[in-house]
Amino acid sequence: MKLYIISNRLPLRATRTESGDFEFCHSEGGLATGLGSLTMDVEKHWIGWPGIYTESDEEKEKIISYLQPYNFHPVFLSQEQIQNFYEGYSNSTLWPLCHYFFSYIEYENKYWESYKQVNELFCQSAVPLLEPGDIVWVQDYHLMLLPQLLRNSTKEVSIGYFHHIPFPSYELFRVLPERADILNGLLGADLIGFHTHDYMRHFVSAAERVLDLRFRLDHVLLDTRIAYADAFPMGINYSLYHDAILNPSVQQKAFELKKNYGTHKLILSVDRLDYSKGILHRLRGFALFLERHPEYKEKVSMAMIIVPSRDKVDRYAGLKTKIDESIGAINGKYSTINWTPVYYFYHSFAFEELVAMYNIADIALVTPLRDGMNLVTKEYLAAKRDTPGVLILSEMAGASIELREAIIVNPNDVGEIEQAILKALEMPVDEQLRKLRMMQEDISKQTVDKWANDFVHEIKRIKLQNEALNRK
Ligand code: G6P
Repeated sequence: MKLYIISNRLPLRATRTESGDFEFCHSEGGLATGLGSLTMDVEKHWIGWPGIYTESDEEKEKIISYLQPYNFHPVFLSQEQIQNFYEGYSNSTLWPLCHYFFSYIEYENKYWESYKQVNELFCQSAVPLLEPGDIVWVQDYHLMLLPQLLRNSTKEVSIGYFHHIPFPSYELFRVLPERADILNGLLGADLIGFHTHDYMRHFVSAAERVLDLRFRLDHVLLDTRIAYADAFPMGINYSLYHDAILNPSVQQKAFELKKNYGTHKLILSVDRLDYSKGILHRLRGFALFLERHPEYKEKVSMAMIIVPSRDKVDRYAGLKTKIDESIGAINGKYSTINWTPVYYFYHSFAFEELVAMYNIADIALVTPLRDGMNLVTKEYLAAKRDTPGVLILSEMAGASIELREAIIVNPNDVGEIEQAILKALEMPVDEQLRKLRMMQEDISKQTVDKWANDFVHEIKRIKLQNEALNRK
């Protein structure tokens, strides 16, 4: 049996160098970082887009041969598909819908047509590779039609789907013109997974009301088989982050960072550039803190790391300008000769730099307005060994269901963010360490490997159950 992961993006992204060649780097975002460090003991293949547009066969061949040794199979998208499928239906229709940004949703027929076409394309790329007994695990909202397409064109293959972002409540989901097609697409899977029980409930309620199906708690009887929906909270490769600080070069980086920033407390914020991440609200919360607590002048700074993302989509480009302005205004107002309130980095960090940053940061401020899970929280906690730290976490992130020892805030309430920062700064070190240990204990057990194993195990169980059902 082989495991085929299919996601829009491969964990490696190709970029063109000045000499016209290709360079490959790790893809951004929770899905690629989380699943990319999966060490499951099974032959694993990955089908997805290499993140670049290319027309020439020669260039495609170069990319294919680079990715082959990793068992990565690239699916190439045309420029029109990148615009209408990726930037369009995936990120201007489904993304705002699932993150409750109702007024941002764009309805365009060409987006939907392209979405169907690309889901077909992924299906055609996968089918020739599959053999009976294999497990196909489709990932995320870009490919919600794929489970049913695969079911129609393959036999004796188990199909799973995992939704990495929130699934909205029925009252919101129903606005989507293609709601029935999307739900039917998902129900082609044997198992449909979500990060939280709430997302799963929303999906079940949408399927019942739109398709007139009757679930029995977590499963529904379709023509010849039973399909299941369940919650599987995703974790991280805990030891990768927890042991990183034992590496001398990470220690050296942490030491240098401490030398630069160590004279004051450091609040860390790490996100992809996205309106769902609540970056502007967070900055307002920090500005309010500076205004209300002059006693902390020159004593606390925020390091804001923003990883560029989807910059061709209007909503993202506009957000960048607003963040630049907001940080400029805060630094303009409060900076002194010796102190910068917000250090701003608009680029990704290499792994070693990032874990060093996690390790020394006194506070992680993670306040998305909506977030499927948010793995940054878990990475921050794991990167701590003997150093204390406090996690301030939005109640709108899936991770808040598990991480109850964090300071939980409503990210829309800037006053609550301001108060949480104060509380975190004043928290005694022994309390910080105690809470850290409790959360670390949980996330060291709920790793990404366990998450994947639980999912695959459940798919195998469903397969046996459906085989028995069909023998009757
Ligand atoms: C989120 C999504 C992923 C996506 C990632 C990065 O984590 O759940 O599916 O890959 O963002 O976004 P991008 O548009 O760059 O793939």
